[in-house]
Amino acid sequence: MDSIIKISPSILSANFSKLGDEILSLEKAGADYIHIDVMDGHFVPNITIGPEVIKRLRPVTKKTFDVHLMIAPVNNFIKDFAESGADIITFHPEATDNVDETIKLIRKYNKKVGISLKPKSKISLIENYLDKIDLVLIMSVEPGFGGQKFMPEILPKLKEIKKIINERKLNVEIEVDGGINFQNSKSVKESGANVIVSGSTIFKENSGDLKKNIELLRSN
Ligand code: DX5
Ligand code: ZN
Repeated sequence: MDSIIKISPSILSANFSKLGDEILSLEKAGADYIHIDVMDGHFVPNITIGPEVIKRLRPVTKKTFDVHLMIAPVNNFIKDFAESGADIITFHPEATDNVDETIKLIRKYNKKVGISLKPKSKISLIENYLDKIDLVLIMSVEPGFGGQKFMPEILPKLKEIKKIINERKLNVEIEVDGGINFQNSKSVKESGANVIVSGSTIFKENSGDLKKNIELLRSN
């Protein structure tokens, strides 16, 4: 189980008119992963980017593309996202009628598998798959938009997931995503997260000093 904290900046808050440059800046600023929020206007009430854009961004950096699929149905797009250069493919269990099948599909393309829980989604939705995946993404906002307020009511669920993963000695990363800032990041890490996603805090705080903001989230 990783004890070091990884930072996965969400490019949803980046300047979309120069995404390649923004990703390069994140790499130079010390990002561990690049969090790419994919939204289809169906699973969530917003639309962002798809595999064609990720394919163009892939050559910019070797950093892990942590792709968060907020799309449904998800199965028909796994191949496209895998071939576009995603490294971790995270989906929502509500976006498939067979979680095992989606996991197998992602594995077929030798990608890491993540499963995401919305704030009100129960651990029981994913508990039986924890030994088959690489990452759990606990959402601390309702999916769909950056800049929302952190929902502290997810902390007990985060602690419970951490406990289950430790008891079963599973090598699964715990990523938390949504509304994370310098005031709440400590409690998120203490509750069990080892990967922190942040968009607005990293891109907006300290006049957009990416390096400083990444370091503050990692060390706070
Ligand atoms: C929301 C996305 C999050 C969001 C995080 O649906 O999954 O990754 O972009 O952005 P902030 O850190 O601004 O909440
Ligand atoms: Zn996300």
